[in-house]
Amino acid sequence: MQALELVVVGGGKMGTALARGLLDSGVTRPEATGVVEVAPGRRAALEHELPGVVVTEAVPPCAAAVIAVKPADVTVAIRAAVEAGARRVISVAAGIMLDVLEAAAGDGVAVVRAMPNTPALVRQGMTAIAAGVSATEDDLVWAEAVLGAVGHVVRVPESAMDAVTALSGSGPAYLFLIAEALIDAGVLVGLPRPVADTLVRQLFVGSAALLAGSPESPAALRADVTSPGGTTAAALRVLEQRAVRGAVIDAAVACAERSRTLGGRPASG
Ligand SMILES: NC(=O)c1ccc[n+]([C@@H]2O[C@H](COP(=O)([O-])OP(=O)(O)OC[C@H]3O[C@@H](n4cnc5c(N)ncnc54)[C@H](OP(=O)(O)O)[C@@H]3O)[C@@H](O)[C@H]2O)c1
Repeated sequence: MQALELVVVGGGKMGTALARGLLDSGVTRPEATGVVEVAPGRRAALEHELPGVVVTEAVPPCAAAVIAVKPADVTVAIRAAVEAGARRVISVAAGIMLDVLEAAAGDGVAVVRAMPNTPALVRQGMTAIAAGVSATEDDLVWAEAVLGAVGHVVRVPESAMDAVTALSGSGPAYLFLIAEALIDAGVLVGLPRPVADTLVRQLFVGSAALLAGSPESPAALRADVTSPGGTTAAALRVLEQRAVRGAVIDAAVACAERSRTLGGRPASG
């Protein structure tokens, strides 16, 4: 079998999103792309979802691999990818540090650690990458092309990865929690649930587009909708009384701390 250009190891949520983005963006061709998945039912689904892609149980001969399995399975998956020929490896696993990834990969393999997020499913992801010691500029450009298939990519030092996890990595969950609460609030104040659901979804889409497209800070955009003595000011007072700002900060700090301990590092001070 001829070596595939790129194999995604782990055909779960993140692996499937990446594989689909790679194909849709033309970064890889289906016949040069593989997805490795241990679960037989999931393999059958992947063959249907990603036509033309090579779906296997074991890693096929390949030049490069994206490791998209749960953190506990990462070192086994990297070893299997390198044994199959991979000379470039990207890991998207939360918390697993470059020295661990590089020890599993062995000498001469370029390793890049990445932290994507679930908007990658709709090619609106935000991924931060950090280079291992043997990753060259060429390797990083390659990693940016691969992960750029599902959204934006920034380079950071590895020391920033726990913070990245706390913001963009886990951040979609914080926003979805607020969306859930707003829909429930809509029902409480008398809206049918489907109407509340429609309002809140578009609230997020519209607000995200405004934030992304505006040169103004989030604080200025918030001030723009806060008339003196008005309805929004009344709502914001309650959010501040309930310390929502502090809760968001504490949540992000807890997330960063969990990211540290997930990788086997001690909790910080
Ligand atoms: N989802 C997110 O928001 C997100 C964000 C950033 C980073 N990540 C990272 O992305 C990685 C994958 O997350 P996910 O949510 O996509 O997980 P997931 O849905 O559980 O997908 C992982 C898949 O890989 C399979 N697998 C396990 N070991 C394997 C191996 N050696 N070879 C091939 N397949 C194997 C698993 O099968 P079994 O279930 O049978 O073990 C599972 O189907 C994690 O490391 C996570 O930290 C996820």
